[in-house]
Amino acid sequence: MADISTPDTQAPLLVRACRGQTLSRPPVWLMRQAGRYMQAYQDMRAKYSFLELCKNTDAAVEVSLQPYKAFSTDAVIMFSDILIPPEAMGMELTFTEKGPTLPNPIRSASDIDRLIIPDPVEKTGFVMNLLNSLRQELAGDSQTALIGFAGAPWTLASYMVEGGVSKNYTHMKTMLYNDPTAFHRLLDKLAQTIILYLNAQIEAGAQVVQLFDSWGGIVSKELYREFILPYHQQVISGLNRQDVPVILYVNGSAHVLEMMAEAQPDVISVDHLTSLTEARRRVGDRFTLQGNLDPTALFAKPEVLKPMVDTLLKEGGTTGYIFNLGHGVLPKTPVENVKLVIDTVKNYSCEDSFVSVVHPAVCT
Ligand code: CP3
Repeated sequence: MADISTPDTQAPLLVRACRGQTLSRPPVWLMRQAGRYMQAYQDMRAKYSFLELCKNTDAAVEVSLQPYKAFSTDAVIMFSDILIPPEAMGMELTFTEKGPTLPNPIRSASDIDRLIIPDPVEKTGFVMNLLNSLRQELAGDSQTALIGFAGAPWTLASYMVEGGVSKNYTHMKTMLYNDPTAFHRLLDKLAQTIILYLNAQIEAGAQVVQLFDSWGGIVSKELYREFILPYHQQVISGLNRQDVPVILYVNGSAHVLEMMAEAQPDVISVDHLTSLTEARRRVGDRFTLQGNLDPTALFAKPEVLKPMVDTLLKEGGTTGYIFNLGHGVLPKTPVENVKLVIDTVKNYSCEDSFVSVVHPAVCT
Protein backbone atom coordinates (compact mmCIF):
# COMPACT_ATOMS: atom_id res chain seq x y z
CA MET A 1 0.00 0.00 0.00
CA ALA A 2 1.26 3.46 -0.81
CA ASP A 3 1.43 6.56 1.37
CA ILE A 4 -1.41 6.70 3.90
CA SER A 5 -0.51 10.05 5.42
CA THR A 6 -1.94 12.31 2.71
CA PRO A 7 -5.54 11.35 1.95
CA ASP A 8 -6.27 12.55 -1.58
CA THR A 9 -10.00 13.18 -1.53
CA GLN A 10 -9.95 13.91 -5.28
CA ALA A 11 -8.98 10.33 -6.07
CA PRO A 12 -11.72 7.72 -6.56
CA LEU A 13 -12.76 5.87 -3.40
CA LEU A 14 -11.36 2.61 -4.75
CA VAL A 15 -7.94 4.13 -5.40
CA ARG A 16 -7.89 5.59 -1.89
CA ALA A 17 -8.76 2.20 -0.41
CA CYS A 18 -5.96 0.60 -2.48
CA ARG A 19 -3.59 3.14 -0.92
CA GLY A 20 -4.67 2.10 2.57
CA GLN A 21 -6.47 5.31 3.47
CA THR A 22 -9.19 5.25 6.13
CA LEU A 23 -12.61 5.95 4.62
CA SER A 24 -16.13 6.29 5.98
CA ARG A 25 -17.08 3.04 4.19
CA PRO A 26 -15.26 0.59 1.94
CA PRO A 27 -15.70 0.91 -1.84
CA VAL A 28 -17.69 -1.84 -3.54
CA TRP A 29 -17.60 -3.45 -6.97
CA LEU A 30 -18.08 -7.07 -8.02
CA MET A 31 -15.88 -9.27 -10.16
CA ARG A 32 -17.77 -10.12 -13.38
CA GLN A 33 -20.34 -7.47 -12.49
CA ALA A 34 -21.41 -7.16 -16.14
CA GLY A 35 -22.96 -10.30 -17.55
CA ARG A 36 -25.78 -12.69 -18.11
CA TYR A 37 -27.57 -12.20 -14.78
CA MET A 38 -28.61 -8.75 -16.07
CA GLN A 39 -31.47 -8.50 -18.57
CA ALA A 40 -29.86 -5.45 -20.18
CA TYR A 41 -26.75 -7.59 -20.92
CA GLN A 42 -28.87 -10.36 -22.41
CA ASP A 43 -30.57 -7.80 -24.64
CA MET A 44 -27.16 -6.74 -25.96
CA ARG A 45 -26.13 -10.39 -26.45
CA ALA A 46 -29.24 -10.92 -28.56
CA LYS A 47 -27.73 -8.37 -30.97
CA TYR A 48 -24.00 -9.19 -30.79
CA SER A 49 -21.84 -12.28 -30.32
CA PHE A 50 -19.68 -12.20 -27.19
CA LEU A 51 -16.51 -11.29 -29.11
CA GLU A 52 -18.37 -8.60 -31.08
CA LEU A 53 -19.45 -7.11 -27.74
CA CYS A 54 -15.82 -7.03 -26.63
CA LYS A 55 -14.56 -5.46 -29.87
CA ASN A 56 -17.31 -2.96 -30.72
CA THR A 57 -16.44 0.12 -28.66
CA ASP A 58 -19.96 1.56 -28.39
CA ALA A 59 -21.43 -1.79 -27.37
CA ALA A 60 -18.61 -2.50 -24.89
CA VAL A 61 -19.01 0.96 -23.33
CA GLU A 62 -22.72 0.34 -22.87
CA VAL A 63 -22.23 -3.09 -21.28
CA SER A 64 -19.40 -1.87 -19.03
CA LEU A 65 -21.68 0.87 -17.70
CA GLN A 66 -24.75 -1.35 -17.12
CA PRO A 67 -23.90 -2.38 -13.53
CA TYR A 68 -22.67 1.13 -12.68
CA LYS A 69 -25.97 2.61 -13.88
CA ALA A 70 -28.10 -0.09 -12.24
CA PHE A 71 -26.38 -0.30 -8.85
CA SER A 72 -24.00 2.70 -8.56
CA THR A 73 -20.94 0.53 -8.09
CA ASP A 74 -17.81 2.41 -7.00
CA ALA A 75 -15.92 1.10 -10.02
CA VAL A 76 -16.49 0.36 -13.67
CA ILE A 77 -14.49 -2.60 -14.97
CA MET A 78 -13.94 -2.52 -18.72
CA PHE A 79 -15.99 -5.15 -20.50
CA SER A 80 -13.61 -7.60 -22.12
CA ASP A 81 -12.17 -11.06 -21.51
CA ILE A 82 -8.84 -12.42 -20.32
CA LEU A 83 -8.53 -14.37 -23.60
CA ILE A 84 -8.22 -11.29 -25.82
CA PRO A 85 -4.37 -11.22 -25.53
CA PRO A 86 -3.95 -14.92 -26.48
CA GLU A 87 -5.99 -14.20 -29.60
CA ALA A 88 -3.69 -11.24 -30.35
CA MET A 89 -0.68 -13.58 -29.90
CA GLY A 90 -1.96 -15.58 -32.87
CA MET A 91 -4.41 -18.11 -31.41
CA GLU A 92 -7.85 -18.73 -32.84
CA LEU A 93 -10.57 -18.04 -30.26
CA THR A 94 -14.31 -18.69 -30.25
CA PHE A 95 -16.97 -18.62 -27.54
CA THR A 96 -19.73 -21.23 -27.40
CA GLU A 97 -22.33 -22.23 -24.81
CA LYS A 98 -19.58 -24.19 -23.09
CA GLY A 99 -17.29 -21.18 -22.77
CA PRO A 100 -14.10 -20.25 -24.58
CA THR A 101 -12.62 -22.61 -27.19
CA LEU A 102 -9.13 -22.40 -28.72
CA PRO A 103 -9.26 -24.99 -31.50
CA ASN A 104 -5.48 -25.09 -32.16
CA PRO A 105 -4.01 -25.48 -28.68
CA ILE A 106 -0.33 -25.14 -27.79
CA ARG A 107 1.17 -28.62 -27.43
CA SER A 108 4.87 -28.28 -28.39
CA ALA A 109 7.92 -26.02 -28.21
CA SER A 110 7.42 -25.04 -31.86
CA ASP A 111 3.81 -23.99 -31.11
CA ILE A 112 5.23 -21.68 -28.44
CA ASP A 113 7.81 -20.25 -30.89
CA ARG A 114 5.03 -19.30 -33.30
CA LEU A 115 3.28 -17.06 -30.75
CA ILE A 116 4.00 -13.35 -31.18
CA ILE A 117 4.32 -10.73 -28.44
CA PRO A 118 1.71 -8.34 -29.80
CA ASP A 119 1.88 -4.57 -29.80
CA PRO A 120 -1.18 -3.85 -27.64
CA VAL A 121 -2.28 -0.71 -29.48
CA GLU A 122 -1.87 -2.25 -32.92
CA LYS A 123 -3.51 -5.62 -32.13
CA THR A 124 -5.94 -4.74 -29.32
CA GLY A 125 -6.62 -1.06 -30.00
CA PHE A 126 -10.32 -1.69 -29.32
CA VAL A 127 -9.47 -2.28 -25.63
CA MET A 128 -7.61 1.04 -25.43
CA ASN A 129 -10.44 2.83 -27.27
CA LEU A 130 -12.88 1.34 -24.78
CA LEU A 131 -10.87 2.65 -21.81
CA ASN A 132 -10.57 6.07 -23.43
CA SER A 133 -14.31 6.25 -23.99
CA LEU A 134 -15.12 5.02 -20.49
CA ARG A 135 -12.91 7.70 -18.96
CA GLN A 136 -14.84 10.28 -20.96
CA GLU A 137 -18.15 8.80 -19.77
CA LEU A 138 -16.93 9.02 -16.17
CA ALA A 139 -15.44 12.51 -16.53
CA GLY A 140 -18.17 14.03 -14.34
CA ASP A 141 -17.76 11.46 -11.58
CA SER A 142 -14.31 11.68 -10.03
CA GLN A 143 -15.22 9.27 -7.22
CA THR A 144 -15.75 6.24 -9.48
CA ALA A 145 -12.69 4.30 -10.62
CA LEU A 146 -12.08 2.70 -14.00
CA ILE A 147 -10.54 -0.78 -13.73
CA GLY A 148 -8.51 -2.49 -16.44
CA PHE A 149 -7.44 -6.12 -16.21
CA ALA A 150 -5.55 -9.05 -17.63
CA GLY A 151 -5.31 -12.77 -16.99
CA ALA A 152 -2.09 -13.92 -15.35
CA PRO A 153 0.32 -16.10 -17.37
CA TRP A 154 -0.62 -19.38 -15.62
CA THR A 155 -4.38 -19.04 -16.19
CA LEU A 156 -3.89 -17.90 -19.79
CA ALA A 157 -1.52 -20.83 -20.41
CA SER A 158 -4.17 -23.21 -19.09
CA TYR A 159 -6.66 -22.10 -21.77
CA MET A 160 -4.00 -22.00 -24.49
CA VAL A 161 -2.63 -25.50 -23.78
CA GLU A 162 -5.94 -27.18 -22.88
CA GLY A 163 -7.83 -25.49 -25.72
CA GLY A 164 -10.59 -24.30 -23.40
CA VAL A 165 -12.07 -24.85 -19.97
CA SER A 166 -10.48 -27.86 -18.28
CA LYS A 167 -11.18 -30.12 -15.34
CA ASN A 168 -7.82 -31.78 -14.70
CA TYR A 169 -5.40 -29.61 -16.71
CA THR A 170 -3.81 -32.79 -18.02
CA HIS A 171 -2.20 -31.30 -21.13
CA MET A 172 -0.77 -28.31 -19.29
CA LYS A 173 0.58 -30.37 -16.43
CA THR A 174 2.06 -32.93 -18.82
CA MET A 175 3.95 -30.11 -20.55
CA LEU A 176 5.02 -28.69 -17.18
CA TYR A 177 6.41 -32.08 -16.05
CA ASN A 178 7.90 -33.27 -19.37
CA ASP A 179 9.28 -30.03 -20.74
CA PRO A 180 9.48 -27.39 -17.99
CA THR A 181 11.88 -25.30 -20.10
CA ALA A 182 9.34 -24.93 -22.88
CA PHE A 183 6.55 -24.28 -20.41
CA HIS A 184 8.60 -21.53 -18.73
CA ARG A 185 9.17 -20.01 -22.19
CA LEU A 186 5.40 -19.89 -22.72
CA LEU A 187 4.85 -18.26 -19.32
CA ASP A 188 7.60 -15.73 -19.99
CA LYS A 189 6.13 -14.82 -23.39
CA LEU A 190 2.76 -14.36 -21.72
CA ALA A 191 4.28 -12.20 -18.96
CA GLN A 192 5.94 -9.95 -21.57
CA THR A 193 2.64 -9.68 -23.45
CA ILE A 194 0.68 -8.83 -20.28
CA ILE A 195 3.17 -6.15 -19.16
CA LEU A 196 2.80 -4.33 -22.50
CA TYR A 197 -0.97 -4.86 -22.46
CA LEU A 198 -1.53 -3.52 -18.94
CA ASN A 199 0.84 -0.59 -19.43
CA ALA A 200 -1.13 0.34 -22.56
CA GLN A 201 -4.34 0.12 -20.49
CA ILE A 202 -2.81 2.46 -17.90
CA GLU A 203 -1.83 4.85 -20.69
CA ALA A 204 -5.40 4.64 -22.05
CA GLY A 205 -6.95 5.63 -18.70
CA ALA A 206 -7.22 2.62 -16.38
CA GLN A 207 -6.95 3.90 -12.79
CA VAL A 208 -6.57 0.47 -11.17
CA VAL A 209 -5.55 -2.81 -12.81
CA GLN A 210 -6.42 -6.33 -11.67
CA LEU A 211 -4.46 -9.46 -12.52
CA PHE A 212 -6.77 -12.51 -12.58
CA ASP A 213 -5.12 -15.86 -11.82
CA SER A 214 -8.37 -17.78 -11.67
CA TRP A 215 -6.75 -21.23 -11.80
CA GLY A 216 -3.62 -20.41 -9.78
CA GLY A 217 -4.95 -22.40 -6.83
CA ILE A 218 -4.92 -25.82 -8.49
CA VAL A 219 -1.29 -26.69 -7.75
CA SER A 220 0.91 -27.33 -4.71
CA LYS A 221 2.91 -24.58 -3.02
CA GLU A 222 6.05 -25.96 -4.65
CA LEU A 223 4.67 -25.78 -8.18
CA TYR A 224 3.17 -22.35 -7.42
CA ARG A 225 6.59 -21.08 -6.36
CA GLU A 226 8.15 -22.36 -9.58
CA PHE A 227 5.50 -21.61 -12.21
CA ILE A 228 3.19 -18.90 -10.84
CA LEU A 229 4.87 -16.54 -8.35
CA PRO A 230 7.84 -15.58 -10.60
CA TYR A 231 5.44 -14.46 -13.33
CA HIS A 232 3.30 -12.42 -10.91
CA GLN A 233 6.54 -10.74 -9.82
CA GLN A 234 7.64 -10.21 -13.42
CA VAL A 235 4.30 -8.68 -14.46
CA ILE A 236 3.79 -6.54 -11.35
CA SER A 237 7.36 -5.20 -11.32
CA GLY A 238 7.05 -4.38 -15.05
CA LEU A 239 4.03 -2.09 -14.64
CA ASN A 240 4.10 1.71 -14.72
CA ARG A 241 2.22 1.84 -11.47
CA GLN A 242 3.23 5.16 -9.86
CA ASP A 243 -0.42 6.24 -9.59
CA VAL A 244 -2.12 3.02 -10.54
CA PRO A 245 -2.62 0.34 -7.89
CA VAL A 246 -2.48 -3.35 -8.78
CA ILE A 247 -4.93 -5.95 -7.43
CA LEU A 248 -3.88 -9.62 -7.49
CA TYR A 249 -6.66 -12.23 -7.51
CA VAL A 250 -5.97 -15.95 -7.19
CA ASN A 251 -8.88 -18.35 -6.82
CA GLY A 252 -8.25 -21.21 -4.36
CA SER A 253 -5.49 -19.24 -2.66
CA ALA A 254 -5.74 -20.53 0.93
CA HIS A 255 -2.37 -22.31 0.72
CA VAL A 256 -0.53 -19.55 -1.18
CA LEU A 257 -1.60 -16.26 0.47
CA GLU A 258 1.94 -15.51 1.68
CA MET A 259 3.25 -15.98 -1.86
CA MET A 260 0.61 -13.58 -3.17
CA ALA A 261 2.13 -11.04 -0.78
CA GLU A 262 5.61 -11.85 -2.11
CA ALA A 263 4.45 -10.68 -5.55
CA GLN A 264 4.05 -7.17 -4.03
CA PRO A 265 0.67 -6.06 -5.39
CA ASP A 266 -1.12 -3.17 -3.64
CA VAL A 267 -4.22 -5.29 -3.04
CA ILE A 268 -4.68 -8.99 -2.32
CA SER A 269 -8.07 -10.24 -3.47
CA VAL A 270 -9.15 -13.05 -1.15
CA ASP A 271 -11.48 -15.87 -2.22
CA HIS A 272 -14.37 -17.02 -0.03
CA LEU A 273 -12.58 -20.06 1.42
CA THR A 274 -10.28 -17.97 3.63
CA SER A 275 -11.63 -15.43 6.11
CA LEU A 276 -10.49 -11.82 5.85
CA THR A 277 -9.27 -12.09 9.45
CA GLU A 278 -7.03 -15.03 8.62
CA ALA A 279 -5.81 -13.36 5.42
CA ARG A 280 -4.99 -10.17 7.35
CA ARG A 281 -3.08 -12.15 9.98
CA ARG A 282 -1.08 -14.00 7.34
CA VAL A 283 -0.20 -11.15 4.94
CA GLY A 284 0.12 -8.30 7.47
CA ASP A 285 -1.06 -4.69 7.31
CA ARG A 286 0.88 -3.53 4.27
CA PHE A 287 -1.73 -4.75 1.79
CA THR A 288 -5.31 -3.72 1.17
CA LEU A 289 -7.62 -6.74 1.12
CA GLN A 290 -10.44 -7.26 -1.37
CA GLY A 291 -13.28 -9.77 -1.04
CA ASN A 292 -14.74 -12.16 -0.15
CA LEU A 293 -18.49 -12.85 -0.09
CA ASP A 294 -19.34 -16.31 -1.44
CA PRO A 295 -20.90 -15.71 -4.91
CA THR A 296 -23.55 -18.34 -4.09
CA ALA A 297 -24.62 -16.35 -1.00
CA LEU A 298 -26.38 -14.08 -3.51
CA PHE A 299 -28.84 -16.89 -4.16
CA ALA A 300 -29.93 -16.91 -0.49
CA LYS A 301 -32.98 -15.16 1.01
CA PRO A 302 -32.40 -11.43 1.70
CA GLU A 303 -32.80 -12.01 5.45
CA VAL A 304 -29.92 -14.50 5.25
CA LEU A 305 -27.77 -12.52 2.82
CA LYS A 306 -27.91 -9.10 4.53
CA PRO A 307 -26.38 -10.27 7.86
CA MET A 308 -23.58 -11.98 5.91
CA VAL A 309 -22.74 -8.64 4.27
CA ASP A 310 -22.94 -6.84 7.65
CA THR A 311 -20.55 -9.36 9.21
CA LEU A 312 -18.07 -8.99 6.37
CA LEU A 313 -18.20 -5.19 6.64
CA LYS A 314 -17.30 -5.38 10.33
CA GLU A 315 -14.51 -7.83 9.58
CA GLY A 316 -13.06 -5.82 6.69
CA GLY A 317 -13.23 -2.44 8.42
CA THR A 318 -12.71 0.90 6.68
CA THR A 319 -8.94 0.98 6.34
CA GLY A 320 -7.38 -0.93 3.47
CA TYR A 321 -10.49 -2.88 2.52
CA ILE A 322 -12.52 -3.24 -0.71
CA PHE A 323 -15.85 -5.05 -0.62
CA ASN A 324 -16.16 -7.67 -3.37
CA LEU A 325 -17.04 -11.32 -3.90
CA GLY A 326 -14.66 -14.26 -3.48
CA HIS A 327 -15.05 -14.97 -7.23
CA GLY A 328 -17.20 -13.60 -10.06
CA VAL A 329 -20.96 -13.02 -10.10
CA LEU A 330 -22.62 -16.23 -11.32
CA PRO A 331 -25.13 -16.43 -14.17
CA LYS A 332 -28.75 -16.47 -12.86
CA THR A 333 -27.82 -14.48 -9.73
CA PRO A 334 -30.98 -12.61 -8.60
CA VAL A 335 -30.50 -8.95 -9.56
CA GLU A 336 -32.31 -7.71 -6.45
CA ASN A 337 -29.69 -9.45 -4.30
CA VAL A 338 -26.84 -7.75 -6.16
CA LYS A 339 -28.61 -4.47 -5.40
CA LEU A 340 -29.09 -5.44 -1.75
CA VAL A 341 -25.37 -6.22 -1.34
CA ILE A 342 -24.21 -2.99 -2.95
CA ASP A 343 -26.76 -0.81 -1.12
CA THR A 344 -25.78 -2.39 2.19
CA VAL A 345 -22.12 -1.54 1.65
CA LYS A 346 -22.90 1.98 0.43
CA ASN A 347 -25.12 2.69 3.46
CA TYR A 348 -22.51 1.46 5.90
CA SER A 349 -20.91 4.08 8.05
CA CYS A 350 -17.71 3.77 9.99
CA GLU A 351 -19.58 5.44 12.87
CA ASP A 352 -21.18 2.01 13.36
CA SER A 353 -17.93 0.18 13.49
CA PHE A 354 -15.11 -0.65 15.77
CA VAL A 355 -12.72 1.23 13.47
CA SER A 356 -14.26 4.61 14.39
CA VAL A 357 -13.34 3.93 17.98
CA VAL A 358 -9.77 3.18 17.04
CA HIS A 359 -9.36 6.04 14.54
CA PRO A 360 -12.09 8.54 15.50
CA ALA A 361 -10.37 11.49 13.86
CA VAL A 362 -9.93 9.88 10.47
CA CYS A 363 -13.47 8.63 9.97
CA THR A 364 -14.21 10.97 7.03
O1 CP3 B 1 -16.07 -8.13 -14.60
C1 CP3 B 1 -16.68 -7.69 -15.59
O2 CP3 B 1 -17.85 -7.25 -15.51
C2 CP3 B 1 -15.95 -7.63 -16.92
C3 CP3 B 1 -16.15 -8.79 -17.68
C4 CP3 B 1 -15.28 -10.03 -17.62
C5 CP3 B 1 -15.61 -11.13 -18.46
N1 CP3 B 1 -14.64 -12.05 -18.36
C6 CP3 B 1 -16.79 -11.19 -19.33
C7 CP3 B 1 -17.32 -12.51 -19.75
C8 CP3 B 1 -14.11 -10.37 -16.95
C9 CP3 B 1 -13.34 -9.58 -15.89
C10 CP3 B 1 -13.70 -11.65 -17.42
C11 CP3 B 1 -12.48 -12.33 -17.00
C12 CP3 B 1 -12.39 -13.77 -17.22
N2 CP3 B 1 -12.69 -14.47 -18.34
C13 CP3 B 1 -11.85 -14.68 -16.28
C14 CP3 B 1 -11.28 -14.30 -14.93
C15 CP3 B 1 -12.34 -14.10 -13.92
C16 CP3 B 1 -12.93 -15.40 -13.38
O3 CP3 B 1 -14.15 -15.52 -13.44
O4 CP3 B 1 -12.17 -16.23 -12.88
C17 CP3 B 1 -11.89 -15.96 -16.86
C18 CP3 B 1 -11.42 -17.26 -16.23
C19 CP3 B 1 -12.42 -15.81 -18.18
C20 CP3 B 1 -12.58 -16.86 -19.22
C21 CP3 B 1 -13.99 -17.05 -19.59
N3 CP3 B 1 -14.76 -16.14 -20.30
C22 CP3 B 1 -14.81 -18.17 -19.32
C23 CP3 B 1 -14.37 -19.41 -18.54
C24 CP3 B 1 -16.06 -17.92 -19.87
C25 CP3 B 1 -17.24 -18.86 -19.92
C26 CP3 B 1 -17.87 -19.03 -18.61
C27 CP3 B 1 -18.72 -17.83 -18.27
O5 CP3 B 1 -18.59 -17.32 -17.17
O6 CP3 B 1 -19.49 -17.46 -19.11
C28 CP3 B 1 -16.02 -16.63 -20.46
C29 CP3 B 1 -17.10 -15.90 -21.15
C30 CP3 B 1 -17.49 -14.58 -20.59
N4 CP3 B 1 -16.62 -13.60 -20.17
C31 CP3 B 1 -18.82 -14.09 -20.43
C32 CP3 B 1 -18.72 -12.80 -19.92
C33 CP3 B 1 -19.83 -11.84 -19.62
C34 CP3 B 1 -20.10 -14.81 -20.84
C35 CP3 B 1 -20.20 -14.81 -22.31
C36 CP3 B 1 -21.62 -14.81 -22.81
O7 CP3 B 1 -22.28 -13.75 -22.81
O8 CP3 B 1 -22.07 -15.87 -23.30
